[in-house]
Amino acid sequence: MTESAWKTSITNIGPGKIEIRGYPIDQLMEKKSFAETIFLVLKGELPTEAESEMFEAILISSVDHGISPPSVLGARNSISAGNPLNAAVAAGVLSIGDIHGGAIEQAAKIMQEWAKKDGASKDLAQQLVDDFSSKKRRMPGFGHRLHKTDPRTLKLFEKAARLDFTGRHIELCKEIEAALEAKTGRRLPINVDGAIAAVISDMGFDYRLGKGFFILSRTAGMIAHIFEEWTTQRPMRKLGDTNCEYVGPDSRGV
Ligand code: LMR
Repeated sequence: MTESAWKTSITNIGPGKIEIRGYPIDQLMEKKSFAETIFLVLKGELPTEAESEMFEAILISSVDHGISPPSVLGARNSISAGNPLNAAVAAGVLSIGDIHGGAIEQAAKIMQEWAKKDGASKDLAQQLVDDFSSKKRRMPGFGHRLHKTDPRTLKLFEKAARLDFTGRHIELCKEIEAALEAKTGRRLPINVDGAIAAVISDMGFDYRLGKGFFILSRTAGMIAHIFEEWTTQRPMRKLGDTNCEYVGPDSRGV
């Protein structure tokens, strides 16, 4: 047999056969939920009952947040301009950035690096906040333009505690929140991105999957927004804040 140049461990297909990580797809369809199957493709094994409940909550938490987030505005603008649904979904996904949704990856990277260091979480959090402040770096995953207390964060942490996932990363995340408040005198609450970053880190996920969780969840909401825009609004309508003042140069010749 010749050695294949390209190997994959995700799905084995053949005529009449589709096996995800070794499990026949029809058995997954019969016995497992969508969230459990996503966990399987991403992590390689089926989740335990606790992992399944936690993962389900993570996916639900980011499903939608109204019309104002950049990804939804991007998606609605794209369909409003006359693009097909797939282009509008892509426009929405491309509007996810380091600050919107992308903070999961950045925060998880930082938490995973710092949680490996020796020392109590409280001391590490203090060092991290001092270090970031001296470099004028912003800690991703903290602060929200609307919520002082985000119900998604509370629920994720409550479930993580009940299901016994609270480990070094969640502890560090909570200590960072306290250290940030002590340093700045302002409460910068852990936002949903920060909470997901901490929970997926305690669940053993690689931080590089961070944006993936947000995309998986928010795509459902975006499709609903795209469909609503498409079917109930006139094309090319004014979307976004129209209260805009021009502050550039006065009218001039070339
Ligand atoms: C979201 O879930 O998209 C939001 O938390 C972002 C925002 O500020 O609307």
